Amino acid sequence: MKMVSIISRISSTLFPRVSMPAFTMASRSKATLVKPKTAIVMLNMGGPQTTDQVGGYLLRIMTDRDMIQLPVQSKLGPWIATRRTEEVMKKYNEIGGGSPILKWTNTQGRMLTEALDQMLPESAPHKHYVAFRYVPPFTEDAFQEIERDGVERAVIFSQYPQYSCATTGSSLNAIADFYRNREVPSSIKFSLIERWATHPLLAKVFAERIREKLEAFDSRVRNDVVILFTAHSLPLKAVSRGDTYPHEVAATVAATMSTLQVPNPHRLVWQSKVGPLPWLQPYTDDAIKAYVKQGRKHLILVPIAFVNEHIETLHELDIEYCDELAKEAGVQQIERVATPNDHPIFIAALADVVANHLKNGPRLSNQFLTRCPHCVSQRCQSSKSFFKKFIGV
Ligand code: FES
Repeated sequence: MKMVSIISRISSTLFPRVSMPAFTMASRSKATLVKPKTAIVMLNMGGPQTTDQVGGYLLRIMTDRDMIQLPVQSKLGPWIATRRTEEVMKKYNEIGGGSPILKWTNTQGRMLTEALDQMLPESAPHKHYVAFRYVPPFTEDAFQEIERDGVERAVIFSQYPQYSCATTGSSLNAIADFYRNREVPSSIKFSLIERWATHPLLAKVFAERIREKLEAFDSRVRNDVVILFTAHSLPLKAVSRGDTYPHEVAATVAATMSTLQVPNPHRLVWQSKVGPLPWLQPYTDDAIKAYVKQGRKHLILVPIAFVNEHIETLHELDIEYCDELAKEAGVQQIERVATPNDHPIFIAALADVVANHLKNGPRLSNQFLTRCPHCVSQRCQSSKSFFKKFIGV
């Protein structure tokens, strides 16, 4: 058995997931035993681990102009965050007191790096770093740790398979902010995976999850169950600017359906709209009600744009739609497909995306460097220029 594999096994025995705070576990497992050679930086928005973090989390979202644009944002953003804190805390309490995003990201990172150690001994040991946008561990924490560890190579890997300027774009702008007044370490070779919406194993894990749920329906109705792919909506303003998110989400849906090969009807619907401005439609809750009115009372919800459970799946989909709304609307049976989490096919997808990237590149894609046709953001402009220099292509 290879040394790194033995170390991984020892570390998971020494530091079992259940008894350690999730974000210290990853740091301890490999870092204290072997100096990592390759960093895998997992970008995501993050979610409050405890209800104490809800206020800060909302404040950071509401004041992030990449994520949301409000008039007089420096005043209105904090005001909205304060007003919503209690209600959002209540929702986190209803799903067990916090978001599981960090737990899942650490599990995925640990399994991914173990797989990479086996697949690519030349770039091993690999170590994952969690870089969240709105809760600890923050993007800057991850980059400080990478520098301290003295890695040779760092792959910045967005955990949003479909790119949006509001999500992955925001995390990348945060990296550019971090290095604005700080020297970029010349000893580390950086590269970026910013989108992987149509990876065949990603489609396969969604297809497997759906297939399992279809089995929960009586065989007499199984082929007529409506499959509703649901993703976080986006303001129409962002769509009109040319954000690629809607068509990338649709591409994942198409790849999943073509892998699944079932006769069921399907639609892509959008959830979690906030504020009064128009967003991408149809909304998930409206679609559920409308299908019931059409007599389609057997439904499956598939969260297609998040790779681990979060408040929008555990509360909005499970409690508000599959329980409360379904009863009120007269749904006969509704099932919600789990997010990929630690499904072995999903871990294989992550490993294949990173291994291909490490072997074949490119280190920075032209697609990323090209701004939206109607982008007027100085931040986007300076961040794209930064990445060109940062990654050195
Ligand atoms: Fe898309 Fe600026 S809004 S690149």
